[in-house]
Amino acid sequence: MSFNDKQITFAITTPLYYVNDLPHIGSAYTTIAVDVVSRFQRLQGKSVLMVTGTDEHGQKIQRTAEALGRSPQEHCDQVVGGYQSLWELLNIQYDRFIRTTDPRHEVIVREFFQRLWEKGDIYLGQQKGWYCVACEEFKEERELLSDHHCAIHTNKQAEWRDEENYFFRLSKYQESLEKLYREQPNFIQPESRRNEILSFVDQGLQDSSISRINMDWGFPIPFDPKHTIYVWFDALLGYITALLAPEDESSLENAVAQWFPFNVHMIGKDILRFHAITWPAMLMSAGLPLPGKIFGHGFLTKDGQKMGKSLGNVIDPVDLTQRYGSDAVRYYFLKEIEFGRDGDFNETRFVNTLNADLANDLGNLLNRTLKMVLKYGETQVPNISPNVVPKDNILRSKGEVLSSTVTQAYEALAFSHACEFVLALIRASNKFVDEQAPWTLHKQGKQTELEQVLYTVLETVRLAAYLLSPVIPNLSNAIYQQLGYTADFNDKAVGQALPFAEHTKWGVLPGGQLLGEPQSIFPRLDPLPEAS
Ligand code: MSP
Repeated sequence: MSFNDKQITFAITTPLYYVNDLPHIGSAYTTIAVDVVSRFQRLQGKSVLMVTGTDEHGQKIQRTAEALGRSPQEHCDQVVGGYQSLWELLNIQYDRFIRTTDPRHEVIVREFFQRLWEKGDIYLGQQKGWYCVACEEFKEERELLSDHHCAIHTNKQAEWRDEENYFFRLSKYQESLEKLYREQPNFIQPESRRNEILSFVDQGLQDSSISRINMDWGFPIPFDPKHTIYVWFDALLGYITALLAPEDESSLENAVAQWFPFNVHMIGKDILRFHAITWPAMLMSAGLPLPGKIFGHGFLTKDGQKMGKSLGNVIDPVDLTQRYGSDAVRYYFLKEIEFGRDGDFNETRFVNTLNADLANDLGNLLNRTLKMVLKYGETQVPNISPNVVPKDNILRSKGEVLSSTVTQAYEALAFSHACEFVLALIRASNKFVDEQAPWTLHKQGKQTELEQVLYTVLETVRLAAYLLSPVIPNLSNAIYQQLGYTADFNDKAVGQALPFAEHTKWGVLPGGQLLGEPQSIFPRLDPLPEAS
């Protein structure tokens, strides 16, 4: 289940998002998760490349632009800024942003297409079938709802197509794919999605069409320009183009030279087949190495209901982040929803979770402890050696093993578990303060015990901040600064400045370090009325 620990480079990508509309919470969810993984890898000192970008061709975009009276390119140029500004708002540290309308991408797509053509894996045929423009995908009749409505876009009808298309010999890769899934059982995760793919492949793979006619928003096939390359074929190759360094000349060889293949592709469950079947088969055909894993996360609902514009219940990620801040949004989605399963957003639960975990448990623990230190006449971390804290001290003994369990959880992409393990120790620390009653120790003049208790708690908060920093980097910064560090978890070189091997140990906080001013790190939010 874990990434290869010995690897010192790590490449990960989000899907490339459609620009038919501004980003929705689903795109934000995938991107936050990818950012957290990237940050965790950087924390460990690895050299990381995080890719994201936009998928700008195809009928869906073309029609949207037409409806808005814009050219497709103008439309894409307008929407793409909405993605980039949301990622900034959500504190996403991507390294490459690929737009599939980038001219450098066309070079890669042509070269790749040519390679498969020369291999004999592309041929001209007749495509008949039901096409969902919203999915940009042909559907089997049995997959559709009544009146050929799409099961994913339930208000959209699939359209009948009967046209000449170029096909990719996907069926040729049936056995190689089965071998891949067998030999690399972690290639598709989670397990439930892997099983879906295994049973789909088991039914026998059909060749898939990779060109369209009567549609010109995309790249033409060089030797047959009335055909436009299918948007999914084009978009998947965007993952390769993204790897070109800004100064590189566009070629497949240059693009795959350093970072390819990706360690992880993170996507939503609706686009799993393209990533777990088509993509590896395309790479096999091109003689390129395969990614480490494809993780298909679940779908979000709002107040228990499917989200949709027509239902009028979409969550606007910009509005949510502007009102609550990036750490709050990042924390809620990763802590409250088990990654891989479907999950729900409900604003009351959102506020309650943030208040309970970040304002009360974590924020208050730091604040009350720092205030006690000040009140008892100090401005520095109690000046003791951590070794004087008995090994069986509950916080020390739990703190010493915390990083290994949290690391395993991050590596398994079990973000909710990672957060929960840390929060459990924070809750134990609050209980520890109540039981040890430093105010009584102070009154009784038990200075040694008092210093031990306060040091132990501050060190536990530090450890928690370090381990939660991929999820809540701004709060972790605030905590580290109040503990007297000049740390920046938003610096991509954080793994060098605050080395993982050192900062995940218990007992790292230097006794005597001058403390910063105690400030509330996460002010309590006003509770919302319970939904009726
Ligand atoms: N353009 C394709 C991807 C091409 S990748 C080479 C695409 N784009 S998308 O914008 O429609 O979807 C982007 C991501 O958002 C997908 O991973 C999808 O699963 C995710 N989500 C869309 N709606 C969602 C929810 N309601 N909940 C969670 N994620 C969802 O598909």
